[in-house]
Amino acid sequence: MKFTIIIAIAFYCIPWYSNAQSYQDARNHPCLKCHSSQTYTFHNELMDTEEKRLMNPYYILDTVALAIGVHNQFDCTDCHAFEYESYPHASNLKLEPLGTCLDCHGGDESFASYQFEKIVEESEKSIHHQIYGENFTCAKCHSQHTYAATARTSDNVLDIVDYSNKMCLSCHNDMNRYQLVSGHENPKLVQIHDWLPNQELHFKHVRCIECHTEVIDSLMVSHNIQEKAKAVKNCVECHTTNSRLKASLYKYENLRKRSKNGNVNTVLSNESYVIGTHQSPLLKLLSIIIFLATLVGIATHIIFRILKK
Ligand code: HEC
Ligand code: HEC
Ligand code: HEC
Ligand code: HEC
Ligand code: HEC
Ligand code: HEC
Ligand code: HEC
Repeated sequence: MKFTIIIAIAFYCIPWYSNAQSYQDARNHPCLKCHSSQTYTFHNELMDTEEKRLMNPYYILDTVALAIGVHNQFDCTDCHAFEYESYPHASNLKLEPLGTCLDCHGGDESFASYQFEKIVEESEKSIHHQIYGENFTCAKCHSQHTYAATARTSDNVLDIVDYSNKMCLSCHNDMNRYQLVSGHENPKLVQIHDWLPNQELHFKHVRCIECHTEVIDSLMVSHNIQEKAKAVKNCVECHTTNSRLKASLYKYENLRKRSKNGNVNTVLSNESYVIGTHQSPLLKLLSIIIFLATLVGIATHIIFRILKK
């Protein structure tokens, strides 16, 4: 309760005292001078020496991603304690509770279009939640530091796919992160999906969630990751004109806007291949010319035969 109040106060104060510029100059930033670098230095008061050490790679933040993330208006100490400015960090800081997405976004009208409550409802049905319960937090997939609502804002299918798949791969392809959650080794994705031809091509053009979630119309991004037995294995689900991709990956308004004449397929065929949707105007014209030429050829042939008779 106390925590929610603190968050609520922080939340309403942020626009007045923080500034997005603060992440720009990482080397002079009180946190990023250490947390964006492979090594860090600090003053050892006991020995009166300067010490240089290696940074834990999981504690190195990507400053480019920070600057374009949805929370780029925050500074580190809007979410973390001010006491972190001194190093060595005090040990009790480890016990500090951190805000969850819903602490700030729950019940807030200004974020209604994201449907946070509905996402929670769907996430709680997912296989991850079924196995690991509350331990599988939103933060397991979403970094609060760098998350950007890519599916909603990007107009490039490949970027949307890449961004989304990295969220899954950051754990499924990282033994340490995976074991932090599960305590057992991660199955090799390449082997699991070896029934899929052109696997690399597929993983670039479709999101993991296309095959691993139920398509639901009311949400922009389906969050119910289903058990593996329910995953899509049937090629025809995508390789038809009326593919499930139209209801999931290709449904975004931001993609549609780019299409002329309101025809989604003309845009999408630039970047992805779905059988039956590829229509190059040049090829179409060529085929018409060839067809007409053939007709003319046959007609002249017939005329000459009649004349000869
Ligand atoms: C002098 C370098 C340095 C500075 C400056 C620094 N950190 Fe750290 N931080 C570290 C190192 C190293 C660790 C790894 C754990 C440790 O050594 O205490 C760490 C760990 C952390 C952790 C993880 C704590 C845990 O164990 O879960 C957080 C969160 C953190 N820092 C936040 C911050 C914030 C916020 C700031 C700025 C207000 C900041 N740090 C400034 C070096 C630094
Ligand atoms: C919007 C809130 C928010 C902001 C702003 C923020 N953090 Fe964090 N940070 C979190 C949360 C939440 C976690 C815990 C993530 C988790 O549960 O896995 C975290 C974890 C960390 C960790 C531990 C690494 C890890 O993966 O557990 C470090 C280090 C850290 N933050 C440093 C920083 C620094 C440096 C900044 C400023 C550049 C910053 N944070 C800004 C919310 C924030
Ligand atoms: C400490 C409070 C806090 C936490 C925790 C937090 N957010 Fe936010 N979030 C905000 C605020 C404030 C904004 C608005 C920032 C702005 O307008 O610049 C925002 C913006 C966003 C936006 C963009 C909204 C828009 O239309 O511009 C998304 C998406 C988002 N957050 C998702 C998340 C997710 C997902 C999580 C959990 C992983 C999360 N947030 C955790 C406070 C928070
Ligand atoms: C298993 C991984 C995973 C978990 C767990 C997860 N998400 Fe997501 N979430 C995603 C992916 C993937 C996207 C799509 C990324 C993109 O392109 O914006 C997404 C997108 C979102 C969006 C943006 C949707 C939009 O309409 O633009 C919000 C908001 C969000 N998640 C909130 C949450 C909240 C809240 C939780 C916790 C209850 C959560 N997510 C848990 C993977 C996850
Ligand atoms: C074309 C559809 C498709 C795509 C795309 C896809 N998967 Fe799968 N995946 C499946 C099917 C089908 C299975 C079940 C395979 C089986 O049981 O033989 C599966 C199985 C799995 C499993 C279960 C592993 C186990 O324990 O046996 C995981 C984890 C997984 N996929 C993760 C991913 C991730 C992460 C991505 C994105 C990089 C992804 N999948 C993309 C269809 C897909
Ligand atoms: C933080 C780590 C983490 C992230 C992020 C993550 N997963 Fe998982 N996932 C796991 C673990 C651990 C399991 C193994 C569960 C078990 O013990 O069977 C799992 C299991 C699965 C399974 C197999 C379920 C079954 O029936 O065995 C699928 C499918 C899956 N994940 C898909 C995804 C997709 C898609 C994403 C991204 C949207 C994703 N995961 C993100 C950790 C993660
Ligand atoms: C989740 C949707 C989905 C499923 C399921 C799926 N595909 Fe695909 N497939 C795609 C997309 C999207 C591409 C587009 C890649 C591109 O632009 O060339 C593609 C490309 C291909 C290609 C390469 C075409 C080319 O132009 O080189 C082949 C071959 C293929 N798929 C076969 C299959 C087979 C066989 C299966 C079933 C075992 C399958 N696909 C299941 C979506 C899917």
